[in-house]
Amino acid sequence: MNVHQAIKTRRSIRSYKAEPVPEEKLKKVLEAARLAPSAHNEQEWKFVVVRDAERREQLSEAAGQGFISEAPVIIVAVALDPEEVMSSGVPNYAIDLAIAVDHMTLAAVEEGLGTCWVGAFSQEKVKKVLGIPERYKVVVLLPLGFPADKPGPKSRKNLEEIVCDENYY
Ligand SMILES: Cc1cc2nc3c(=O)[nH]c(=O)nc-3n(C[C@H](O)[C@H](O)[C@H](O)COP(=O)(O)O)c2cc1C
Repeated sequence: MNVHQAIKTRRSIRSYKAEPVPEEKLKKVLEAARLAPSAHNEQEWKFVVVRDAERREQLSEAAGQGFISEAPVIIVAVALDPEEVMSSGVPNYAIDLAIAVDHMTLAAVEEGLGTCWVGAFSQEKVKKVLGIPERYKVVVLLPLGFPADKPGPKSRKNLEEIVCDENYY
């Protein structure tokens, strides 16, 4: 599978089989995050791999989204330097973590696995469940597992709507 095929095939998966994720597949997904670029190559991130059923349930509750605990693995992406801002005014951490997590979503497709970005959750509750220090920022919960459904593609804006030639208009 090439990158374009992975990009076209990826869907947000909200239903998972109970079948465990083989360790070598999980490792490939995590390796994709490890190789992601980051500002100044600082790699100020941690990825907490949660397999324990009770903890997955607690994370689901922290997000108020029941489907999350169905996945046999939840990868929790944590930014270790959430205060740093680039000269552009854009915070590093959101970009760094977004790229790393997107790498994982695409690597998962190649492994026949599904994921879903979960950005809506209680920061405090997730930190409490996993013992994450207050000064860090939890950016994404990423359920990972074999998909139990096959959603079709969601619509996207046309290129003409989102691309400008030379000037902004
Ligand atoms: C930053 C971000 C936050 C998201 N948060 C959630 C979420 O909390 N729960 C959820 O079910 N999906 C969430 N999604 C998934 C989006 O709803 C989904 O990507 C979008 O509808 C397009 O569908 P597709 O991923 O299948 O192409 C999030 C996606 C992104 C990029």
